Amino acid sequence: MDLTEIYEKGAAYFRQKEFGRLMGYVETGYISDNDRRILDRFTFRQQCIDAKEASTECAVLGVSLSTPVIMSAMTMPIPAMGDDALMQLARGLKTAGSLMWTGTPIPKNLAELAATGVPLVANVKPLKDRDKIYAELDKIVEQNVTWVGIEIDAGQGTKIGDKEMGFDCSPFSINEIRKIKKRVHVPLVCKGLLSREDAEKCMEAGVDLIVVSSHGGHTLDYLPHPLQVMDEIAAAVQGKLEIIVDGGFRRGTDVLKGMAFGASLVGLGRPILYALAAGGEQGVVDLIGGITGELARLMTMVGIPTPDEVHRNILIEG
Ligand SMILES: Cc1cc2nc3c(=O)[nH]c(=O)nc-3n(C[C@H](O)[C@H](O)[C@H](O)COP(=O)(O)O)c2cc1C
Repeated sequence: MDLTEIYEKGAAYFRQKEFGRLMGYVETGYISDNDRRILDRFTFRQQCIDAKEASTECAVLGVSLSTPVIMSAMTMPIPAMGDDALMQLARGLKTAGSLMWTGTPIPKNLAELAATGVPLVANVKPLKDRDKIYAELDKIVEQNVTWVGIEIDAGQGTKIGDKEMGFDCSPFSINEIRKIKKRVHVPLVCKGLLSREDAEKCMEAGVDLIVVSSHGGHTLDYLPHPLQVMDEIAAAVQGKLEIIVDGGFRRGTDVLKGMAFGASLVGLGRPILYALAAGGEQGVVDLIGGITGELARLMTMVGIPTPDEVHRNILIEG
């Protein structure tokens, strides 16, 4: 299935479902329009003489992937899409050489998902019941996950359209992040940064990776697209932390723009759900394969043979 078909079929599926409202955005929907507007601001400097065929293989904190295109943190509404939907997703992402990332609720079968061989990340929200978070973290790390993620941006709960989502959260302090880092014995990811200040605090707390993200427009309205803040974050981090980015990335061209701004990996939220809806396990393989194929073709024609060599000068702004 090609990408256009995946997106059309996926969107049609969610239009028919009550849980399809999860594809929406908070309040005015500004974030959805702004994501596209910012990504469309950049074109590419083609440099094809002497171009070498590019490889998309990459490694982040020792995890080898066939592609920098990964799943962003999500669980809802996957279980409602079919009893086997999480397993189909895990197998599809494994075949595609990508990475799986679960969100809220934390799936009970993380160990089974990890047993497919897919690198697996599991996230926790900053629930006000901190004891519950620690208990959840302990359970997660026992289940062979590759990394553990904490959401720093869900501190005031979540709302889609005008509808409140029921999570009783409050923001983490830097000391709590330090405590969590000490508790888990796998790399710790902080998800949902949009400023230099939070990046500096993550570094101070000793986290291993950060995700620059507006949570897919599910938390606050009028947040910037990650590319609008990547420069200040990359300047603060100075290559000492790996950066992941997500928000509105839909094609290989979008992914290369995220990488040009300094991201090692680029996450997909809604596209993963569309692919699963459109074609199950094979839909996921086709989505990641389709976007990665576009990325490889483009990398070749801008003179970038490997993901490590991507740099900002391949972009033309305006
Ligand atoms: C249905 C849905 C559920 C999500 N659940 C979570 C979650 O549990 N935890 C989290 O950190 N982010 C969650 N997100 C945000 C995604 O991880 C990601 O940041 C966002 O979807 C990326 O934008 P995109 O959908 O435009 O690709 C969710 C997003 C969607 C669409």
